[in-house]
Amino acid sequence: MGIQAKDQDLSRSSAALYSLKYFENKMKVGLGTGSTAEALVREIAARNLQNELDLTFVSTSTRTTKLAESLGLSISELSDVKYLDLVLDGTDEFDSELNLIKGGGGALLQEKIVASSADSMKVIASISKKVDDLGKFPLPIEIICFGWASTLQRLDNLFASSGVIFNSKSMRTENNKFFVTDEGHFIVDYSFEKIHDPSALEQAINQIVGVVECGLFVGLCDQAVTGTRDGIIEVFDCND
Ligand code: 5RP
Repeated sequence: MGIQAKDQDLSRSSAALYSLKYFENKMKVGLGTGSTAEALVREIAARNLQNELDLTFVSTSTRTTKLAESLGLSISELSDVKYLDLVLDGTDEFDSELNLIKGGGGALLQEKIVASSADSMKVIASISKKVDDLGKFPLPIEIICFGWASTLQRLDNLFASSGVIFNSKSMRTENNKFFVTDEGHFIVDYSFEKIHDPSALEQAINQIVGVVECGLFVGLCDQAVTGTRDGIIEVFDCND
């Protein structure tokens, strides 16, 4: 592992470790997806927190479920639990209003459903994920497989007609095939450079026929916990 990757690793794991303090007895908690969420799952398992605090966990992806269960955690179905106290997840970017870009790990749909079912969403991340304006990280958009290219055309038309400039777009791939999400959809990643109005863009994208959901999370997150490679933690509330 290179020095930069190791630093990223340390900053993620320090944020994950810090976030354990949010757990309270009998809480129902959503577990996010990605390397930071995985660091959290490992800490929970290593400390036997599920049994100690009688926690109920819901997962945001097959990937997280597999890891959690392999470490002895029990995962419940969101449909059975319905309502969560807290979700802890990673993020690809966050701004000062705690708008997020998520979906780098391909789990944005379940992540958004789980976040929308929770009283509180907190993201845990390396400090490098904090940005002035969202958009450097390509925005993942989950789309129906049927007629995917026509959906892309409608998205291009939307951006052209609303003056939203994108630099490039690409269909997400894995092993030389289109990446397929847990819910059986494709993902297209749009590079915008700068997103001026995340809320308006989220609403406009989600109106397009063929789009399932986009990776803009607006008004869902109430705190971001960031770590550095030296273990320095900063907690951001909205407009800090
Ligand atoms: C998965 C996500 C992840 O939370 C996001 O990609 C951050 O991942 P990492 O913790 O590995 O940086 O949105 O869909």
